[in-house]
Amino acid sequence: MAKNLILYFSGTGNSLTVAKQIAQELGDTELNAMAACPTPVGQFDRVGFVAPNYAGGLPRFVGTYLGTLDFIKLHTDYFFLWRHMAAYLATQSRRRMNCCKVRVRH
Ligand SMILES: Cc1cc2nc3c(=O)[nH]c(=O)nc-3n(C[C@H](O)[C@H](O)[C@H](O)COP(=O)(O)O)c2cc1C
Repeated sequence: MAKNLILYFSGTGNSLTVAKQIAQELGDTELNAMAACPTPVGQFDRVGFVAPNYAGGLPRFVGTYLGTLDFIKLHTDYFFLWRHMAAYLATQSRRRMNCCKVRVRH
């Protein structure tokens, strides 16, 4: 089983391109569409989510999907969220992104 998992959501392919690039850099990474889940997220050391910025926030599907995960209970060392956008990131969504950026197990 791969050490890393990247789950992506991509309407027009930009986030998928970024997800592939991150996966290549990380190595040993499984890449899946969020919609293709359930993926057993808790079995991986590092889990990344890659999605576009829609109207200063996450696409509704992505927000709903992330809301189904219990981050505290997952035995994953590191989470990250990458959002691909055209131009701007609203302050409110930047705050939201920071909230779910990283969790490190000691
Ligand atoms: C409905 C919708 C809303 C968007 N809102 C924003 C936005 O608020 N700020 C921004 O910079 N880009 C916005 N974009 C542009 C996308 O974030 C950008 O094109 C992104 O690269 C699309 O990723 P994808 O190809 O993975 O779907 C929006 C795109 C769509 C379709």
